Amino acid sequence: MLTIRSGDPKGIKTDLMLLLVCEDTALYDDAKMLALIDLGRQYSEFSGKSGDELILYAPAGTKARRVMLAGLGKTGDLTAESLRRASGKAVGRAVNADMSGLLICMPDARACGMEAGDAAEALMEGAVLANYRFDFYKKEKPHKALKSIAFAAGKDFAGQARSLAQKTEIVCKGTHMVRNWVSMPPNDKRPARFARSIIKVAEKHPLEAVVLDTGDLRKNKMQALLAVASGSAGRPQMVILDYKPETWDQTVVLVGKGVTFDSGGINLKPASGLETMKQDMAGAAAVAATLIATAQTGCSKRVVGVMPLVENMPSGNAYRPGDIVKTASGKSVEIGNTDAEGRMILADALYYAIRQYSPDVVIDMATLTGACIVALGEKIAGVFSTDTDLADCIAHAGQKTHERCWSMPMPEDYRENLKSDFADLKNVGKNRYGGAIAAALFLSEFTKGSRWAHIDIAGPAYASGANDYCGPGGTGFGVRLLCRVIENL
Ligand code: BES
Ligand code: MN
Ligand code: ZN
Repeated sequence: MLTIRSGDPKGIKTDLMLLLVCEDTALYDDAKMLALIDLGRQYSEFSGKSGDELILYAPAGTKARRVMLAGLGKTGDLTAESLRRASGKAVGRAVNADMSGLLICMPDARACGMEAGDAAEALMEGAVLANYRFDFYKKEKPHKALKSIAFAAGKDFAGQARSLAQKTEIVCKGTHMVRNWVSMPPNDKRPARFARSIIKVAEKHPLEAVVLDTGDLRKNKMQALLAVASGSAGRPQMVILDYKPETWDQTVVLVGKGVTFDSGGINLKPASGLETMKQDMAGAAAVAATLIATAQTGCSKRVVGVMPLVENMPSGNAYRPGDIVKTASGKSVEIGNTDAEGRMILADALYYAIRQYSPDVVIDMATLTGACIVALGEKIAGVFSTDTDLADCIAHAGQKTHERCWSMPMPEDYRENLKSDFADLKNVGKNRYGGAIAAALFLSEFTKGSRWAHIDIAGPAYASGANDYCGPGGTGFGVRLLCRVIENL
C-alpha cells in the first residue's frame, strides 16, 4: 500500500499531492512547491493555520491533478499528531472522492523541528490508518480504500523511509485487523469463531498457536473463566500465540480481555448502548494483532499472547450474584456483580500465563471498567502498575503513538474494599467510587511477584464518531502502543 518515491515529486503523476504548510516557516526548499503554497495563501480561507485546507486543481508546474495544502499552524506547535491528522485528512478526501492515488511530499524535518524518522513515520501512520473502511456488512460499498499511497522522500532519506514504510504498514495493518474484529457484530464472533479467526491469520506467520477449549480450561481449574462463560451457549476458548526468536533474553506476556459480548449477565446492563458491548474483546484483539505484527517485524524477545474468550450472557445456567467460585490460583471469589466479568477471566488467564511462562514482564489490556471512562474520558487509557518504570515505559510509548495512557494509583489501603464476608475476595468494591482502581487491585491479587501492568482501554477502544484517521467503531487502540512497548522494554 505504501511506496517510496525518491525522484522529484513534481514529475510524479498522481490524483492528489499533499503539501504541508506552516504559518511561519517554509517546510520545503523547492521554489516551485513554495510558489504553489504562495498561490494557496492568496485565498482568504487559507493561511496555514492548523486545520486549514485548500485544494488547487491541476496547478501548473506539477503532474498532479490536484494539490492539497494542509495547514499545521505555527512550527512551534507542530507535533507528530498534527502530521498524522494532515495525512489522514488527505487520505479521507482522496477516498471520498474515489481517487486512486495520493502522493505525500515529505517536508524538511529540520524546519518542522522534528527528527526526520519521526516526521515520516507519523505521516505514513496517518495515511495508512485513514485508508480503511469497515464496509463488510454493506451491499453497496460507498467508497474503496486507496490502492496505493506514495511517499516522496529525498534520495538521502529514501532508504530509511523504505524500512519505516514497511514496518508502519505491518503495524497499522494490525490496527486495521483490530478495528475489523471490534466492529464485527457479536453474532459473528462468538468465542469459537473469534478464536478460529485469530488462528487463521496467525498460521500465516512464524507463531505457535494453541487453543484451549472447555476441557482444557477445566483441567487447568479455570473456574472463574468458566463461571463467566456458563450463561452462554457459545463455548469459551483460550487462544495462545507464542513468538519465539532463536534466542531471547526476555519473555513478555500480553493478556487481553476477550468478552465477545458483555450483556452484564444476570446483572443485565441497561438497554441504552448495549450494542456497543461487542467491543469488550478489544483487549484480546489488540494482543492478537500485536503478536501477528511482531512475528512479521521480528523481535529479539519471546512474546506470548494469552486471550481468554467468553460471552457474558444471562440464562438458566448463568453464574449468579452470591456465587462463590474458585479461581485457578486457589483464591475464592464471591460474585458481587456478574457484570464485573472481565476481572474474573483475567484472574485465571493472568495466573495461568505467569505460571506457564515465568515472564519477565506481564501486561494486560482490557476494556475493564466504565469507571475508567468516568476518570479519564473516552480517549485516554488508564495504566495501573506498582512498577513505575514499566508504567513510564507505557506512558512514554503512548505519547509517541498518541494512544494516550495515564498512570493511575494503586493504593494498598483500598484493597479493603474487595473483602468478602464469605470468600477470599469479592469481584466488586463496596461502592462505585474508584471502580477502575478496585478492578486493578483485584487483578493484582493474581499477579503477585511479577513485573506487571494493567491497561484499561474501556474509553479509547471504541469511538462513537470519526476523527481524521479513524472512523466510528473499533479504533484499533493498543497495537502501535504494545509494539513500541515491547521494543523499548
Ligand atoms: N465491559 C465493561 C466495561 C466497559 C464499559 C467497557 C463501557 C467499555 C465501555 C465491564 O465488564 C463492566 O461491565 N464493568 C462494570 C463493573 C462494575 C459492575 C463493578 C462497570 O464498569 O460498570
Ligand atoms: Mn461487564
Ligand atoms: Zn466487560
